[in-house]
Amino acid sequence: MEATRHPDTLAARLQTLPKVELHNHLEGGAMYPDLALRLAARNGMTLPFQDAASAADYYRFTSLDQFIDILRTTVATLNTAEDYADAVERQGIEARRQNIRYHELFVTYGLVSRRGVPWEAVVEGLVEGRRRNADRHGVDTAFIIDLDRTLPADEALRHVQLALGARERAGIVGLGLDCQEAGFPAGRLRHCFAAAAEAGLPLTAHAGEDGGAASVRDALDCGVTRIDHGVQAVEDPSLLAELAERQVLLTVCPLSNVALRVFPSLAEHSLPQLLAAGIPVCLNSDDPPMFASDLLTECVAVDAQFGLGEARLVALLRNAVVHSFQAPDAKARLLADFDAAAARLGDEHGDDHG
Ligand code: ADE
Ligand code: ZN
Repeated sequence: MEATRHPDTLAARLQTLPKVELHNHLEGGAMYPDLALRLAARNGMTLPFQDAASAADYYRFTSLDQFIDILRTTVATLNTAEDYADAVERQGIEARRQNIRYHELFVTYGLVSRRGVPWEAVVEGLVEGRRRNADRHGVDTAFIIDLDRTLPADEALRHVQLALGARERAGIVGLGLDCQEAGFPAGRLRHCFAAAAEAGLPLTAHAGEDGGAASVRDALDCGVTRIDHGVQAVEDPSLLAELAERQVLLTVCPLSNVALRVFPSLAEHSLPQLLAAGIPVCLNSDDPPMFASDLLTECVAVDAQFGLGEARLVALLRNAVVHSFQAPDAKARLLADFDAAAARLGDEHGDDHG
């Protein structure tokens, strides 16, 4: 297969689609050097970098676990409601730039709760940031509360209860799981997923990133309907078949996977096998400033590597709309807008749609 369009043309065409991104982290996704340095100064802290160039050196990763250590250090800049609101708004600005209309952000309270940041400050920041994104940037921002896998079981349950208590007020639409995967099976926190499911909250989990197929199964056994990453599922053909059969969406983040050495190079990424298995996949940029990425960069990169072509990329972007945790009426409106914009692309140059 070959890439069908010049990357600049492809990016400009995909820009016209009203998009959804489902796998971005509020904390790591806000750590643009300028914002991180501003937050650090406001909080009287110093960071291990002073400008964009030294941040690029610092943001060099060798594994998921080493990345999480760097994330924890950088995210120590988030302390107050205003810090959180600024972090949410920065992602609204980036979303608007890419014509992302609905955005689900993971919020991992475990990254800051150990330092004593009050939950009320986090919630206030989410409420204010979400309001700014709607009013100033035309972006609908929703939140998925991710449990830090390494939390003690009782503390994790407390985070679920906090999330449920702020659900309507803060636009919380789901529960997820993240941070170090190795040594912390999802099943340890099964009671947390059960409590959220009982309250009707949709479930997802990071799994199969640096853990294998067993880790994906473990997350499925906790009742999740989406998997974040899931790229190691290719180890197990029966798991691939099950994900396809149940139409479990994988929110795949190709450039993050290369940056964290989950795959030695993009050429060795499992995306083509996941697509060949008939599993619904969408593309995402995970923590964009830390991986020098964004949604359109991911699209262009996988097209250049695997020659997916525009029609396939449009289908992957559409999967994000279809599988989001957005309320049904708003989702139906966005899907209609997406399909109309996709049809306009197809009408202009029907050559590679099909
Ligand atoms: N937190 C932020 N990014 C993450 C990732 N890629 N995996 C697990 N936890 C994360
Ligand atoms: Zn992630």
